[in-house]
Amino acid sequence: MSSDQRFFDFLKERIGLDVTSVGPAIIERAVRQRSTATQTQTADEYWRVLQGSLDEQQALIEGVIVPETWFFRYPESFATLAKLATKRLAELNNMRALRILSLPCSTGEEPYSIAMALLDAGLKPHQFKVEGMDVSPLSVEKARRALYGKNSFRGQDIAFRDRHFTGENDGYRLSTRVLDQVRLQVGNLLDPALLANEPPYDFVFCRNLLIYFDQATQKQVFEVLKRLTHVDGVLFIGPAEGSLLGRLGMRSIGIPQSFAFSRQSMAVPEPVPLFVPTPLPVPQPVRNVVPPQVARRPFTRTTPPVKIAKVANTDASTLLASIATLANEGKNTQAREACESYLRSHEPVAQVFYWLGLLSDVAGNVLQAQGFYRKALYLEPQHPEALMHLAALLQSQGDTAGARRLQDRAARSERAADSERKR
Ligand SMILES: C[S@@+](CC[C@H](N)C(=O)[O-])C[C@H]1O[C@@H](n2cnc3c(N)ncnc32)[C@H](O)[C@@H]1O
Repeated sequence: MSSDQRFFDFLKERIGLDVTSVGPAIIERAVRQRSTATQTQTADEYWRVLQGSLDEQQALIEGVIVPETWFFRYPESFATLAKLATKRLAELNNMRALRILSLPCSTGEEPYSIAMALLDAGLKPHQFKVEGMDVSPLSVEKARRALYGKNSFRGQDIAFRDRHFTGENDGYRLSTRVLDQVRLQVGNLLDPALLANEPPYDFVFCRNLLIYFDQATQKQVFEVLKRLTHVDGVLFIGPAEGSLLGRLGMRSIGIPQSFAFSRQSMAVPEPVPLFVPTPLPVPQPVRNVVPPQVARRPFTRTTPPVKIAKVANTDASTLLASIATLANEGKNTQAREACESYLRSHEPVAQVFYWLGLLSDVAGNVLQAQGFYRKALYLEPQHPEALMHLAALLQSQGDTAGARRLQDRAARSERAADSERKR
């Protein structure tokens, strides 16, 4: 019952979620779960419950959102923010506090990282205010609680934890000094009246949300973001979202890995990556890839691999996890080197080619990215991320039929995985 188009349309209209970007399985699963929770038997029955209850609508939305976030995600963007903020205060002669928006803020790690970065850079509490906003009341509630587990601290440099948190049971409680800088509220980026009476913000963070929208919604939302960003302001986005802003006339400010854009040309633009439909995978979900003892594939080297002592001694799964960490921290050069080292010392695995594809994609090298995604799919024909990313690349090049074939393949494999899980 759950592949009913009505549910896809409902979620698209309410939060902008595009079924082709996340795949139908996530939505179908959420509908099934809510249908069980509301004890409804048919699609029509659940649809009626959904239409008649705002709480149920919110519950379904909570079931499909992706709240994935952590402190100081893409560290370079926070270092850049700190520099720009100091400069902006000087331009404003310190006449007012800087206004910063984090939308979506999810469970608070992003707006609190902004506050920590600015306090650590020497800004005084009265010199800036951060607003965090998200469509999920549950996430906002969690953000207000400001008690975090280990999963929120994923970077290599977590010295900030000692400065701004105290241990509490198994978690870490954020200091009131940081907490007081941030105001949190529930809000929907698609709401036409969103922050309508607010003056524009000096800095806007809108990261890892546009990737879940179709192009029409991205354009619509971009107009909202433009209204919310001061004409001299800077918009920070996710690494996969640059191509969209480039197409819509925004300029990269030219600081690598900051993913920061301005309305005016501030510097030579860095290469804008092509559209990539999902954020860089986080270290945890790195699948337990054990390098298979497979026969060599045609594209693998025919000469014996050059063993690098350090790599050869390193366990493959540790190496894969470290590639994920490097990429997630925006250390793309090191991530690429780690991938290449891996391939020199181990049998090839789809995950590594997928990473190389993603890194090429982010660097704007489309053809190379395609080649790597295809290699990943050669080794693992149902590799879900490689399927989706290659589909997005083909789509961006006008090959709609090719993109559709890959999306269908991804959807079929998700459905198969889902029914496998239910057994
Ligand atoms: C992957 S998180 C991104 C969090 C943070 N910006 C980051 O990059 O780490 C995506 C968030 O977008 C929120 N979201 C989804 N649709 C939204 C909408 N229409 N308006 C506001 N927030 C939305 C979800 O609730 C989720 O918390």
